[in-house]
Amino acid sequence: MEDLMQKIVSLAKRRGFVFPGSEIYGGLANSLDYGPLGVELKNNIAQLWWKRFVQTRNDMVGIDAALIMNPKVWEASGHLKEFSDPLVECKKCHKRFRFDEIVNPKPKTQNPKCSDCGGDLTEAKQFNLMLKTFLGPAEEQANIAYFRPEIAQSMFVNFKQVLDTTRRKLPFGIASQGKAFRNEITPGNFIFRTREFNLMEFEYFVEEKEWKKWFEYWQNEMREWLKDLGINLKKIHENEIPDGERAHYSKRTVDFEYEYPFGQKELYGLAYRTDFDLRNHFKEPPYKEEGADAFYPHVIEPTFGLDRSVLAALLEAYSEEESRIVLKLPFKLAPYKAAVFPLLANKPELVKKAKEIYDSLLKDFMVAWDARGNIGKRYYSQDEIGTPFCLTVDFDSLEKDDVTLRDRDTMKQERIKIKDLADILNDKLKN
Ligand code: GAP
Repeated sequence: MEDLMQKIVSLAKRRGFVFPGSEIYGGLANSLDYGPLGVELKNNIAQLWWKRFVQTRNDMVGIDAALIMNPKVWEASGHLKEFSDPLVECKKCHKRFRFDEIVNPKPKTQNPKCSDCGGDLTEAKQFNLMLKTFLGPAEEQANIAYFRPEIAQSMFVNFKQVLDTTRRKLPFGIASQGKAFRNEITPGNFIFRTREFNLMEFEYFVEEKEWKKWFEYWQNEMREWLKDLGINLKKIHENEIPDGERAHYSKRTVDFEYEYPFGQKELYGLAYRTDFDLRNHFKEPPYKEEGADAFYPHVIEPTFGLDRSVLAALLEAYSEEESRIVLKLPFKLAPYKAAVFPLLANKPELVKKAKEIYDSLLKDFMVAWDARGNIGKRYYSQDEIGTPFCLTVDFDSLEKDDVTLRDRDTMKQERIKIKDLADILNDKLKN
């Protein structure tokens, strides 16, 4: 299974999904860059999410907020005090660990040793994960600011403005996507845990008496979303987080854990944040309906790591068959929707016709062009990056105005009239 992870990392680098960050300078540990195909996959997931949870719902609106907020936000939210992981250090080799990650199995009664040298560990101390910076030229206390460790707070502090400008009534949600930053003690496993990462989440505001109903509703919606990503729900484990292990703001949390090759770990989370955040930010209750007293709405928060979504989608899609590697990504996620080839690169009439098709499809789809090597190699190359359809222009095409359309998953081929291509592709890509 670990082997699968190496294959994904290698394919991601070889084909331009994810590169090691700053590589020409020797890299930077756990910093990764999305390449030309990776950014398409990541953006396709983010757009699908936005469409599903924001644009096609009448109870959700979106915002896009600053990454650096007034430090008072983090004081009020409790992050400055509470957003920490337990850190231990080996007394012998000085390697550092996250205590909760090395205490195994549950219940946590063991006295673990350093996994590198077997040395004794120090007592656990709380290490704050907020990434600090200074605003302006003077590096002094008054200028300290923090890169946001979660995007949720932007939705809480903008609650009144959203309410005033959209006149929403409960229940409704505020959604956002963007970067978050955490000074992780043990980043690693490729894009699974990094110090800067992409989040998609929303805060769904409800009346207190209805929180259980909405918690269940969103738990189910999260399962439906996972199906869109092509994730096999058998590999998802919904883990109820017990008292004492939840984030400081949560009264109930269910983690959606996925079976990664390196173990079963969190993919997404669902939390009942009560009215904790709104109460901390607003002295007066910020929500009021006509004829009723103002009050603090309660919050259900589904949160989706975008990089972990990319990783899970790649792991699920990767498949090795007799003569090929194929990424069976859901069509909506595939970076390229089709590839166009002239059968022979040295026949100008084929190249010309294929180029015309390529140029015309490019207006509506992400389309790849390939005229290198033979057709078999081109199929191999497109299968490996998950392109659903390959279109080949051959000598018959010149006479009949058609192409061969080859399906990534079945490898079956059919002849399609060029004039019908865009409609047929659109239809097939709906799946
Ligand atoms: N607002 C709630 C919140 O931030 P979280 O469980 O701390 O909750 C949300 O983080 C999601 O962000 C996680 O479910 C996971 O998908 C992702 N995530 C958390 N830390 C990450 C990291 N260091 N690198 C990549 N993704 C991370």
